[in-house]
Amino acid sequence: MTRSLAWEDAALVAVDQCALPHEYRLLHLRTVDEVIDAINRLAIRGAPAIGVAGALAVAISAAQHTRNGQCDELAVRADARRIADARPTAVNLTWAVRRVAERIPQGAGAVLDEALVILAEDERLNLAVSEHTADLVLRLCGHRPLRLVTHCNTGRLATVARGTALGAIGLLAEAGHVEEVLFGETRPLLQGARLTAWELAEANIPHRLCVDSALPAALAAGMADCVLVGADRVCANGDVANKIGTYSLALAAHQAGVPFIVAAPMSTVDETLADGSAIVIEQREPDEVTTLAGVTIAPAGTRVFNPAFDVTPAELVTAVVTENGTYRPVGARREVAS
Ligand code: MRU
Repeated sequence: MTRSLAWEDAALVAVDQCALPHEYRLLHLRTVDEVIDAINRLAIRGAPAIGVAGALAVAISAAQHTRNGQCDELAVRADARRIADARPTAVNLTWAVRRVAERIPQGAGAVLDEALVILAEDERLNLAVSEHTADLVLRLCGHRPLRLVTHCNTGRLATVARGTALGAIGLLAEAGHVEEVLFGETRPLLQGARLTAWELAEANIPHRLCVDSALPAALAAGMADCVLVGADRVCANGDVANKIGTYSLALAAHQAGVPFIVAAPMSTVDETLADGSAIVIEQREPDEVTTLAGVTIAPAGTRVFNPAFDVTPAELVTAVVTENGTYRPVGARREVAS
């Protein structure tokens, strides 16, 4: 399956991102609780992917709450709220759930049709995001073999297909513009080490893995021409929530004078939030930090701070690139690349 998510025989079929890189296996999810559980434990993860999964979960709910052609709207709306609450930071989840929930009065078939439109749209939108991003990178950095830095996983696994920032890296590599991709392991759940390394190897793109804290040092040492990351929520002013570690990368890129580009579809833009101060940052379980590959690495009882995301202020972002080109923040307080 080249798509990471599909709809087959009334089931959401998803690549199990917890099993990679050791095993490539597919999940067949047939209930709302199964989809919520897959999103919670990051078997399905990445902002666009959880949006699509959430939309299909509402469709599952609508089908299961339909008797004799009558859809129990209240029950489906209650499920929709639980699905939207599965993870708080990526706006794509609430965006997609709301979009399909508008079709609940028209019945289960209409809800599924809308979810399938979102599923089909994702690949097309990601290709447009990737093309605009790759164009901007070449305009800013020139047509030469580039040393690119990325963080977390923004590839096909994080979307239905193609990816966003990693999608752009793929296009640049296909055109012969990539010397190397350097990326962090992405503690605590290792999306970089497990998933981005797997995707870059699959695409035959030269890459090197480092610990997260080595990335700012690499930028300071002049080892990168451009940083490309994804986003979970972009606010009206251009502040960006993304995987924890993104902010330190942006600070280092700013200090080093290296472009810092965020690639994301418009479904990640939340113009209802003026700035990043109101973004709810997901706090995850302590054992993700106190253990590594199932082995305890901290003394029993160690208290933990485990935010899944951070907020990068707009001032540190060279450009947010969507399927429409460069996103222009409302009341922009900075120059954006054109
Ligand atoms: O916790 P995760 O793995 O879902 O976090 C994912 C990220 O932060 C990605 O950078 C973001 O969702 C964009 S994916 C195209």
